Amino acid sequence: MFGNLQKFEQTGHTVRLTFEQNRAEVDVIAPDIVHFFAPQKDEHRLSKAVENPPASNTDFHVEDADGLVVITTSKLRVEISRDFHIDIFDTQGRAVCRDYQGEPEPFIRYGGSATGKSFVSAEGHEEAGKNAPMKVSVYKQLDGDTHFYGLGEKTGPLNKKGYHYRMWNTDNPLPHTENFDTLYKSIPFLIALHGETAYGIFFDNTYESYFDMGRDNSAYYYFGAKDGNLDYYFIYGPSLKSVVSGYTSLTGRTPLPQLWALGYQQCRWSYAPKERLLEVAERFRKEHIPCDVLYLDIDYMDGYRVFTYDRERFSDFKGMIRKLKDDGFKVVTIIDPGVKKDAGYAVYEEGLKNGYFITDPDGIPYVNAVWPGDALFPDFSNAKVRAWWADKQQFLIENGVAGVWNDMNEPASFHGPLPDDVQFHNDGYRTDHAEMHNVYGHYMARSAFEGFRKHSDKRPFVITRACYAGTQKYSTIWTGDNQSLWEHLRMSIPQLLNLGLSGFAYAGCDVGGFGFDCTPELLSRWVQVGCFTPLFRNHSSYETRSQEPWAFDEQTKAINQKYIELCYTLLPYLYDALREGEQTGLPVMRPLVLEFQDDPAVTDINDEFLCGSALLVAPVVQQGQRARSVYLPKGANWIDFWTNETFAGGQNILRDAPLDLCPIYVKEGSILPRWPVRQYVGEQAADTLILDVCLPAPGEEASCTHFTDDGETFAYREGGYNRYEAIVRPDGPGAAVLRVKKTHAGYGNGYRTLHIRCVGKPAAILTSAGKAASPGEAVACPFETDTVELLLRY
Ligand code: GLC
Repeated sequence: MFGNLQKFEQTGHTVRLTFEQNRAEVDVIAPDIVHFFAPQKDEHRLSKAVENPPASNTDFHVEDADGLVVITTSKLRVEISRDFHIDIFDTQGRAVCRDYQGEPEPFIRYGGSATGKSFVSAEGHEEAGKNAPMKVSVYKQLDGDTHFYGLGEKTGPLNKKGYHYRMWNTDNPLPHTENFDTLYKSIPFLIALHGETAYGIFFDNTYESYFDMGRDNSAYYYFGAKDGNLDYYFIYGPSLKSVVSGYTSLTGRTPLPQLWALGYQQCRWSYAPKERLLEVAERFRKEHIPCDVLYLDIDYMDGYRVFTYDRERFSDFKGMIRKLKDDGFKVVTIIDPGVKKDAGYAVYEEGLKNGYFITDPDGIPYVNAVWPGDALFPDFSNAKVRAWWADKQQFLIENGVAGVWNDMNEPASFHGPLPDDVQFHNDGYRTDHAEMHNVYGHYMARSAFEGFRKHSDKRPFVITRACYAGTQKYSTIWTGDNQSLWEHLRMSIPQLLNLGLSGFAYAGCDVGGFGFDCTPELLSRWVQVGCFTPLFRNHSSYETRSQEPWAFDEQTKAINQKYIELCYTLLPYLYDALREGEQTGLPVMRPLVLEFQDDPAVTDINDEFLCGSALLVAPVVQQGQRARSVYLPKGANWIDFWTNETFAGGQNILRDAPLDLCPIYVKEGSILPRWPVRQYVGEQAADTLILDVCLPAPGEEASCTHFTDDGETFAYREGGYNRYEAIVRPDGPGAAVLRVKKTHAGYGNGYRTLHIRCVGKPAAILTSAGKAASPGEAVACPFETDTVELLLRY
């Protein structure tokens, strides 16, 4: 396709290559990040994901070595040959990633019916997994034991080896099963782990695209697209953490959410009329089950017209939100993209007058149907439309709404899919739906984010269903319409873990399941996972049975309360993890392989995960199961969160797990910042810090850095925060010193009291005043001077 290499030249960090039939560019973005580009469709590059490419000042060397162009950085050697073939080596000369040299040979699909059609199509169904012809494709050599991760929220296991997926944002209301090749999001970012080395490939192409991880043929894996340019980034590890960090340095990182957004969230389609919403709110407070967020689904609107409310069922809308706010609730409202076609409706009239809607090729506004019936779709790919829609968020903000829920933005359409030739502005580079479909939700979320950023001093809370790579800068996400099925509880774990590896540090799914009727046991087990997913939202569909924490029986209510309270005691820990994530790109919910890459036993674990780096969660995800095998990774000892027993890593243990118990393990040598339970964020002053100290192995140190701020604004970016550092150092046999110090004072008074508790080993805690607590008991000590030193004897 490219032919022989004819010449190359270097300009700045770009190497331009001329082949017989095409040209290509290689940008050295960092010593471990290289960008490959060939203008197969058009010359301009208008990445939707990489908005501010990092300025490269990487030193590298380019040379012609026997007909190969060789680019050498301090971390990689990239060899480019005929047909834009690329082989990448590490500094030791070991091949990391090589293009496949042979001709692709997909397997043959036997088994046609008598009509010559496959049985699936003979029965009138569409055949899954059929690719349109690919105009752009890259085939890479597949080494047998490679593991694949990432790709966003795809169904199936954590490791995508042997699977094939399609990127085309899709709202499919059927129960999501492992053979779904598309869902709501397109995150064309793949991570490969082979031996000790990991690398990532970000294929920045928004057309319908495909990733095949050795399903077609075990000698290669490939990615490709129906159209667009050859445009991908190679991100070298060798650690998975560096890959995630490198990817998010390109596409952006999840900004620190408001603290309340880590609390419990209750949703339903729909809490309407307002008396029902108020009743739910009241019940939370009466039952003493913490809750921060309540959602309004589509029925709060006037006939599903966006940026309106139903004046009958939600009279005094603003007063209702104020009343809820006084009781600690933040209200988030849904906004869909479809604008009702309705003469006299201001949003429709304005959009029409200004040409803000997508059109057919003749320039006539394109109409399809969504909840409001006939509707038009704003062209969010136009900066002017984004600004208009951003200003529309004022309607919500002025009414006291705390955040916005963007749904149906694949975009979903009830009268068949949008045709490929529907026209988009694309910020001046006019294009069609085929190119813009996968970024429609991304742009909508961006516009909502920008609106909240402009019209409120709070950190925007946006949650979107559809998105593309890079949307994590603007919005959190949920995994769409799952069902109250055990299979969907199980599936949510690898989905959220891969979303985390794909840049979404803050994400969740509908706890309890959206469609179908939940059961007490399923909800009990689901909250045990939900309380560790940073976005902890229970949501269910209309006509399903209620699934609020109290909706079943006393036992289920008590289990909900126990795990929701656990989430609230861990708020400082979760918040610290997100603060870290803002700097590193690492997610809160982590597959074991992210933290224990050297342990080959963890590459395929689907039913355990880490929350931050210190907590290992091994939930029960099977009806009736009351014990489970837990694998504890090698390289650390693990303390049972409930019993304080210590277990060596590198083994499977059998753990009893009665219905009210989720097996949790704390990594030895970690310090967990916690808070007393509160009913909502802001209910109590944050003046008491609990530190759970899990003593390190003898002779070792343990430490943690903890961060607090106003929990709402961007003031922390100008120094408006407090930082605390806690460190445990050995102090002779059987003793250690714990030192806690406030190392940055930028927000309020900070903590006045510390509660120290030793986890794992029973330890006596001696305060400076010489007071001892019995082993295992928490000791309270004043923190007036912002430094405390304690002796721990064990
Ligand atoms: C979609 C959403 C769901 C919402 C419903 C009604 O199905 O995914 O969360 O409740 O629409 O708005």
